[in-house]
Amino acid sequence: MSTHTYSQEELTLFKEIKNGKTFEASEELPPFYRKHLLNLLWMQGDSEYSGALGYMPWIAKAPTLQEKVLVAQMVKDEMRHASVIYRLLDELGQNTSDHVNKSDLGYKLDEDQINIGFKRLKPDYRVNIFYYDIKYWTDYILFNFLMDRAAGHQLQDTFNSSYMPWKKAIEGIYKEEVMHLAHGDKWVKILSRDPEQKKFLQERLNLWWPRVMNIFGSTLGASNDLYVNLGLKQRTNGEIRAVFVKEIEEMCEACGLTLPVYREEDQPQRETASL
Ligand SMILES: [Fe+2]
Ligand SMILES: [Fe+2]
Repeated sequence: MSTHTYSQEELTLFKEIKNGKTFEASEELPPFYRKHLLNLLWMQGDSEYSGALGYMPWIAKAPTLQEKVLVAQMVKDEMRHASVIYRLLDELGQNTSDHVNKSDLGYKLDEDQINIGFKRLKPDYRVNIFYYDIKYWTDYILFNFLMDRAAGHQLQDTFNSSYMPWKKAIEGIYKEEVMHLAHGDKWVKILSRDPEQKKFLQERLNLWWPRVMNIFGSTLGASNDLYVNLGLKQRTNGEIRAVFVKEIEEMCEACGLTLPVYREEDQPQRETASL
């Protein structure tokens, strides 16, 4: 539970939003609202952008020509998502092109067998799963299967966002994420049919599972009801995570894969307070 107590002004804002108040780019946003909106938009923008760069090498490395076309399409999708979200940030007076030029959003970890928990590695805003390198085609598939699915669930929460420009942008992005996760589902089934490939898939799933679970943040510490109160999310991260886990559990069971045990309290913690 959060120990933060809200001011009367903040509580009034929560109430107005609960009663259906929305915001447009052209109007003056309450500073408190604006700050948290910017957090979420920067997180999404940088994640889309570094996600596109992470997928990019797989245009060349995908196993067939048809798959190269599909990967190229996904890279285009993610770059487009980044440009849409960065445009929203620019409208709010942020300088995204300066940020992109100065940041190292293509940076990926060299180490393969590593779990950074909730740690941040660079002064950018990406969700920290985008620091890991996609090393094998199996990883690419798991990224579609796990991360694009998790992103889809998080985007659903933006359908009713109190920030109208974001709400309008999200529908197209969501549709494309659904195609990415369907690609993951298709390939998880293909790989699971071959005993050798399945063994490797299980190995890589064990590695990627805590990484993807960590994107939902820590549900042990400060609660993220704040975003819900601001109408920027509909559900807490813990609630979204539960829906996501249930879906993955069913898919894994159908394919004969085992989900490793995930313990939030075992994950390496970040040094500074989380957003
Ligand atoms: Fe995306
Ligand atoms: Fe995606």
